[in-house]
Amino acid sequence: MTGQAAIEVTPLAVHIGAEIGGVDLRKPLAPDTVKAIRDTLLQWKVVFFRDQHLDHAQHVAFARQFGDPTPAHVVFGGGDDEHPEIYSIAKHRTANSTKDAYAVRPWTGWHTDITAAINPPMASILRGVTVPPYGGDTQWTNLAAAYDALSPVMQAFICGLRGVHRFDEPRSRRDLTDYDRAVANRMMVSEHPLVRVHPETGEKVLYVNPGFLRSITGLTPQEGGHLMEMLYEHMIRPEFTVRFRWSEGAIAFWDNRATAHLAPTDIFATEFERQFYRVTLTGDVPVGPDGQPSTALEGAPIEAVG
Ligand code: SIN
Repeated sequence: MTGQAAIEVTPLAVHIGAEIGGVDLRKPLAPDTVKAIRDTLLQWKVVFFRDQHLDHAQHVAFARQFGDPTPAHVVFGGGDDEHPEIYSIAKHRTANSTKDAYAVRPWTGWHTDITAAINPPMASILRGVTVPPYGGDTQWTNLAAAYDALSPVMQAFICGLRGVHRFDEPRSRRDLTDYDRAVANRMMVSEHPLVRVHPETGEKVLYVNPGFLRSITGLTPQEGGHLMEMLYEHMIRPEFTVRFRWSEGAIAFWDNRATAHLAPTDIFATEFERQFYRVTLTGDVPVGPDGQPSTALEGAPIEAVG
């Protein structure tokens, strides 16, 4: 355990993940504590807190010390008049939870939040309220460590490439679901560099994720498909990852600019409930090693809640 300003930091794995103790997130934090948490986040990519038991207002207030929250979900809505920033992540989650609820595809695989946007969220803060007695763990992977572990030849090759990120296309125009309509109503398609330079640490990050990356510009579908498969297999090598066992009142705070994460699917084989809530912070436009920013192909940037 290492001391850092007013907090206690306990790393959980070699490349990613640290638990932070010695802080009460229900209260406003001193500026040096905010800085210490932010520095720990930048170093460990995802940080965890136990036994915090925040309510919605405290969750939002904690998040606002690190950035500007987005609406609950830019595509699927959620939130309520009092807490438009709070996105409910229930086991059987629905969108527009206050009216005309419809099922969101239950869980995606490995992804980085909303990289279809020109300015994907900077960070997400997830709070466990109803936690299964076992199962339901979340995993994160360190995409800077993944980049570093590629050969210099592969690094040089992908540093010059860009990829198109979007939500899934509807399978058939005739069978449009409410989910498809929500995606179409807030269409976002963006071309991002395959390697982004982290705006705070300067690290090079392997900026790919199977949740949103659909093609690699300039490559044939076959070439791009093989390259994406190779990078997806590489980015989730166990040594780049951490797996978190939730407890009620636990918080996970991750840097979307340097990680991808995997929500659990094992809970669907049980009767256990799982109710979490998430606040997401607005992010900036990614920039590649050549200094070129991402390009919006469709859709407006994600804006902060007013
Ligand atoms: C998410 O993808 O943000 C949710 C992760 C989880 O519920 O474990």
